[in-house]
Amino acid sequence: MFFDQYDRFYTTSQTSPFPHRLNGRHQAIIARNASIISGKRVLDIASHDGRWSFAALQAGAAHVTGIEPRRELIANAHETFAHYGVEESRFDFQCGDVFDLLSAQSFDVVLCLGFYYHTIRHAELLDKIERTGAQFAVIDTEVTPTVDEVAEAPSDDPRLVFANPYSVQLLSDPVDDQQMAWQDSLTRNGRTLVGRPSRAAVKYMANHFGYACETYDWSSHFQARPEQAASMVDYSEGWRDTFFLSKR
Ligand SMILES: C[S@@+](CC[C@H](N)C(=O)[O-])C[C@H]1O[C@@H](n2cnc3c(N)ncnc32)[C@H](O)[C@@H]1O
Repeated sequence: MFFDQYDRFYTTSQTSPFPHRLNGRHQAIIARNASIISGKRVLDIASHDGRWSFAALQAGAAHVTGIEPRRELIANAHETFAHYGVEESRFDFQCGDVFDLLSAQSFDVVLCLGFYYHTIRHAELLDKIERTGAQFAVIDTEVTPTVDEVAEAPSDDPRLVFANPYSVQLLSDPVDDQQMAWQDSLTRNGRTLVGRPSRAAVKYMANHFGYACETYDWSSHFQARPEQAASMVDYSEGWRDTFFLSKR
């Protein structure tokens, strides 16, 4: 399992650094897409302790840029990369809010992992991703549970849909928590507004920005690896999913 060889990542974050979970996500996010990532310039939005930037480089990415507002997490990433001897010319961690930093930078592949439900600016983020020129993106996000969703859009015309399946569930995040949203202009009393989109909403927005969108088959994944399900209940219970966006 990938992270067993690089087990510093089990200690450099308090955000679900469980071996089965990190290795299960690695299978879906990196291993499945290794041939797409290899040789490419990758952007890792919300790069945290560098876990996915590192995994992308090990999968052969030419260069990785991480954007992360929490300075201490970037420091952890730098220490870990030095520990495992990653050449400094292959990565760059930028400290700040993705909405402030991401403009006029170009990338081939974008990883947006564990962040899409820590913002209310979903469409704007996809706009920024598309403007990087990325041909492929992975969005790994909490979604509204399937039971909360309207099964099918009753009409092809979204302006005539009354039971609209393209929903975003409003939530708020405490901004002093390492795994949550960063303080921004929407923050009041220590919390900021965020939203958890439905699967249909993610696909709808991806399509709008010119990406075909498919999801990882988590159900087959857990059939083959039942030992991982306990530390991945958000995926196994259907309220988190992994979306692959390919430019049409
Ligand atoms: C749940 S963690 C996900 C970490 C990692 N990407 C993963 O999937 O394992 C959310 C991360 O988003 C970062 N974050 C929060 N607000 C952000 C913002 N406005 N721009 C960039 N990153 C942000 C947090 O600091 C935290 O590292």
